[in-house]
Amino acid sequence: MQIKNIFDKMDYGEAPESAREAQNWLKSHNYTFGNFINGKWKQCEDHFNTVNPADDQVLAKIGQSSPSDIDSAVKAARAAQKKWSKESDHARARILYAIARLLQKNSRLFSVLETLDNGKPIRESRDIDIPLAQRHFYYHAGMAQLMQAELPKRSPIGVCGQIIPWNFPLLMLSWKIAPAIAMGNAVVLKPAEYTSLTALLFAEICTSAGVPNGLINIVTGDGKVGEIIVGHKDINKIAFTGSTEVGKLIRERTAGSGKSLTLELGGKSPFVVFDDADLDSAVEGVVDAIWFNQGQVCCAGSRLLVHEAISEKFYNKLRNRMKNLRLGSPLDKSIDMGAIIDKKQHKKISGMVSQTQGKVFQAGSPLPQEGCFFPPTLITELHTADPLMHEEIFGPVLVSTTFRTPSEAIELSNNTTFGLAASVWSENINLCLELAPKIKAGVIWINGTNMFDAAAGFGGVKQSGFGREGGWEGLLAYSKPKNQFSPKIKSTLVKNQIRKADYIDRTAKLYIGGKQCRPDSGYSQSIFDHNGKPVTQVPLSNRKDIRNAVEAMNSAKNWSHSTAHLRAQILYYMAENLSARKAEFANTLQALTGRSDAQTEVEQSIQRLFFYAAWSDKFDGSARSVPLKAVALVMKEAIGNCGVLCDDQYPLLGFISVMAPLFATGNRSIIIPSETFSPIVTDFYQVLDTSDVPPGSINILTGKHADLAIELAGHMDIESVWSFSPSDVSRDIEKASVSNLKRTWVNNGCGRDWNSEEGFGREFLENATENKTIWIPYGE
Ligand code: NAI
Repeated sequence: MQIKNIFDKMDYGEAPESAREAQNWLKSHNYTFGNFINGKWKQCEDHFNTVNPADDQVLAKIGQSSPSDIDSAVKAARAAQKKWSKESDHARARILYAIARLLQKNSRLFSVLETLDNGKPIRESRDIDIPLAQRHFYYHAGMAQLMQAELPKRSPIGVCGQIIPWNFPLLMLSWKIAPAIAMGNAVVLKPAEYTSLTALLFAEICTSAGVPNGLINIVTGDGKVGEIIVGHKDINKIAFTGSTEVGKLIRERTAGSGKSLTLELGGKSPFVVFDDADLDSAVEGVVDAIWFNQGQVCCAGSRLLVHEAISEKFYNKLRNRMKNLRLGSPLDKSIDMGAIIDKKQHKKISGMVSQTQGKVFQAGSPLPQEGCFFPPTLITELHTADPLMHEEIFGPVLVSTTFRTPSEAIELSNNTTFGLAASVWSENINLCLELAPKIKAGVIWINGTNMFDAAAGFGGVKQSGFGREGGWEGLLAYSKPKNQFSPKIKSTLVKNQIRKADYIDRTAKLYIGGKQCRPDSGYSQSIFDHNGKPVTQVPLSNRKDIRNAVEAMNSAKNWSHSTAHLRAQILYYMAENLSARKAEFANTLQALTGRSDAQTEVEQSIQRLFFYAAWSDKFDGSARSVPLKAVALVMKEAIGNCGVLCDDQYPLLGFISVMAPLFATGNRSIIIPSETFSPIVTDFYQVLDTSDVPPGSINILTGKHADLAIELAGHMDIESVWSFSPSDVSRDIEKASVSNLKRTWVNNGCGRDWNSEEGFGREFLENATENKTIWIPYGE
């Protein structure tokens, strides 16, 4: 071949990466793997094949774990965790640092093995997956070192069961293991059945890095093994990444178990292109958004929304670009797209594409003869209600529609049950920053896509799951408050020091949309004083009242975009108005509870209002130091519509302690006061009325916790439910929350001392907010 011929043809040559080292490693294990438990290899009785999807060749046999294998792994983890959590911060940091170094020293072996097992282009495993995995261990080595100094009130959770998918095998492993062990936990991790190899190579790295036996256990197998982990009684936390379908099963399965849970699930992320965007850059952005990793990416920009005025021009540019995308051997360094993970996934993708009503474009680039390949696909002219605009395809298929105005772009972006990521393209940065807070998603990329870093949290809202991976916010998922909450004691009325109370019966109603209204049910329940004497009746709310209150919250959506200064002012005003009626509230409290410390409780309630007024404009987001030419802003945002069931130990303070942090952070709430002592809260309506509280931002419904808890948790338009209720409703709430995968914060039958540090602080503010990461690249 002469150089002249090359210039004549201008064809790409082949640039294959050698698979020799990876094959040697497989051979050294006799192409058969068991589990890595307690620092040793343990063979499994049953095995299944792991296949290279690019050529259908069997790479190795992987163990199918049995329940007793999982038991051994959990036992080993439990024993190791006890010692590990007592190690110094520095000792833990050194181990994480050693893992990072070894990942770096063996990076090419990891990249090639990942590409063989998964089918992703070597360019991506070499330049994205493996470097990001290393970065995660480096970053969290730092977090381990800083734990005591920076998180003095947090402790490890214990043994974490971690279940990961096949699309980014080593990267997902590092997102899970690094923060877990940094915070003093031990792990039992199950890789996906299609892609276990890099997790098994990682196990060897653990031995070389001096990871204590049992701290990191790798168990392999399919979904059934995942189920055993989820149901294991001695696991304290489940961290799952994968499909929304399985995420929901796990939520149901863990309901009421007391296990902590984080879910990183699917998405249908919008990619919004305005008419003033740099269209050529945006086309490259699309390529990265949907054809990176063959579109098998949870945050893939799979829903293209184009400004109508430029849509045809943009689609033409995109179609031309698609003609140049090259599919081929994933080990070839110059191909753009590799193989789909498995024939099953291929069938799912082609089935969805073949049934579409839209206009399908495939560039017709040649597909390799063997292996599991699917061409890059663009589907236009889809109606917004088309199933393909809503369902996660998880393949190289982009669906598209157009919009006319920025507000329509926001509406369309949010027209999904998911909320993982969004990408917004316009040369007008003001416009992008206007959209960023209004799109409901955990991550927003401005004029870019797929920017990730260990310092900036990643995770979703709505049915894309909950919890963050990376950053300070990611540590919350692997640590818990040091306070040991004790099992709840039923409220006991103190019968001594009885003072004659002059409680006057009042007609308590519900408080919805800033107005007092009668309950739909037409029923009331009696309330008794500490002597057991009936003092008044309060309404029994039902499902219809909850629906009315949700409508009121929806009408108050602007409250979430109010200034923090305004929120603080209103909280101060409430405190002022409560203070003016201190004696009256203390009197009522004393009459109801018979407690001698009623005055102190009112005083503390006033202080607590001041506390959250103070935090309102200080619970800030932050800018993260990421190793890219970009600013990553982590913003604290209101969750939205929240429901709370209050405690009855300190009925006024308990109510204020949940209402105020939700209000301070811009949420709209439905609060169900203590069943036993609700008149102290219905009296508070007048304080709300005189404190300029926007209608619908705080709604109060009295009634039976056991009934209302399920209604709140099952409502599709409520995004979070907290329960401090003395009734046994935690399990019911977690189970019913599956409807829309709402966030839950429940007491699992434990009490909280509202009078102490347990009753206020950052924990409440963290639970009242979502972290949104906004990426803004800079430079030319
Ligand atoms: P999956 O959600 O079933 O699997 C993910 C992990 O969960 C694997 O390790 C699997 O073994 C495990 N698992 C499966 N069933 C389980 C159960 N009942 N309990 C506990 N663990 C369980 O995903 P799969 O089957 O590999 O792919 C199905 C679809 O899910 C894909 O077509 C894609 O749409 C979506 N998916 C989404 C991902 C994301 O990150 N958003 C990742 C992988 C798949």
